[in-house]
Amino acid sequence: MWGGATAANQFEGAYNADGRGLANVDVCPHGSDRWDVVAGKKKMYNFEEGYYYPAQEGIDFYNNYKEDIKLFAEMGFKVFRMSIGWTRIFPKGDELEPNEAGLKFYENVFDECLKYGIEPLVTIVHFDVPMHLVETIGGWRSREMVGHYVRFAETLFKRFKDKVKYWLTFNEINMLMHLPFIGAGICFEEGENKEQVKFNAAHHELVASAMATKIAHEINPDFMIGCMLAAAKTYANTCHPKDVWQSMEKDSEDFFFIDVQSRGAYPRFALKELERKGISIPWADGDKDLLKENTVDFISFSYYSSRLTSADPEVNQHTSGNAFATLKNPHLEASEWGWQIDPLGLRITMNMLYDRYQKPLFIVENGLGAVDTPDENGYVEDDYRIEYLQAHLKHMIDAVVLDGVELLGYTSWGCIDLVSAGTGEMKKRYGYIYVDRDNEGKGTLKRTPKKSFYWYKKVIETNGAVLDKISLPELGDVDVKVTEQQAV
Ligand code: BG6
Repeated sequence: MWGGATAANQFEGAYNADGRGLANVDVCPHGSDRWDVVAGKKKMYNFEEGYYYPAQEGIDFYNNYKEDIKLFAEMGFKVFRMSIGWTRIFPKGDELEPNEAGLKFYENVFDECLKYGIEPLVTIVHFDVPMHLVETIGGWRSREMVGHYVRFAETLFKRFKDKVKYWLTFNEINMLMHLPFIGAGICFEEGENKEQVKFNAAHHELVASAMATKIAHEINPDFMIGCMLAAAKTYANTCHPKDVWQSMEKDSEDFFFIDVQSRGAYPRFALKELERKGISIPWADGDKDLLKENTVDFISFSYYSSRLTSADPEVNQHTSGNAFATLKNPHLEASEWGWQIDPLGLRITMNMLYDRYQKPLFIVENGLGAVDTPDENGYVEDDYRIEYLQAHLKHMIDAVVLDGVELLGYTSWGCIDLVSAGTGEMKKRYGYIYVDRDNEGKGTLKRTPKKSFYWYKKVIETNGAVLDKISLPELGDVDVKVTEQQAV
């Protein structure tokens, strides 16, 4: 299945419409303080004077969903990944009855997709935590979150059992270790053991994910439930065994979550490591059986770049990436935001995950965040994006055709321009559709297909066969030269 991916908080807007409550994702501002807020270092529990909050309006998908889905259909999407704003359904998070207006909105969105034969792929939680639960119980540090999450998930499964088949329990579940506020609604208190707090939250999310998987399969045995990982192979800087060992350890950090969700138990390396660090797992009666008996049906992941590590402290030239620290790889180009570009790394990552889990994969995020410069008609010639995607898709197809990896689908990230999760910017664009809106929230919100829109339509139409051809006659020649991009 070909398609595109989004997240509620990055594009819906309408943050207080129809009874929606405040969530952690709403209070992450644009600007230099954003990073400290998303990382849980700076407490910002409400809107503050002097800040701009891009999630408040997003790109107003809430009021434009028909037009946007029509454009996705024009590209030939077979699948559309989106998430549910938790606080549209349960505004405070601890209510016993859902907000009908919120459910109705998503029902309308699903119906609109299904009208065009587009299958919704739904992320239950893409970073959202109701602010009421952050303030009263400290987000996922508390076991109480499990009950609130399960009630939320069950409400969705029951209401949409005939409209949605593919579900992801948590977006990038491993993100909570890196950005705990956006990943789990956690702000640290002075002097507390941060690692312990993070592993408590991880355990609670893993238990919640397994409970949701259990209930989902009871409600509709045809449901396909997936986990979701911010994935990337970590390379060793040299063939020195110490470097190789370190790269293995880094990969294991990511495997930890998926091992539990896919294999049904904490991996032994993690148990040993936690024991050495003096971190305890907050087991409750029945957790072990629950995890064991309710594993996921498929493994979904985001892939933006490979990572690089070295055991030698002298090798310390870092570059930015998807919240994961990585050394700069001299063999790779980088985006304008310093994210390195490694198309073969996608094939490597797919093989690594498939070998380990032997379950179908689903690539649910991949893409290039770049500055687009529209002409006077709003049209963007984004050859750099086409080139990035083309290279990744070629390796993805090789992984399927040559290596035999089972792949359910591919949804590129931010198929329509939306707010960046990392920076809160609009100018970091991933879309096939340009949205007229800037970093300060100015612009008409007009949607205009970019050159990549027509290119992707062709890719979908030919099920990827067109990738073998560099020249797309109806578009003119697609320039495949790699642009020199500055790492920042
Ligand atoms: C992933 C997230 O980590 O990366 C998305 O699931 C995010 O929400 C995407 O938008 C790209 O990151 P950024 O910072 O460029 O928006």
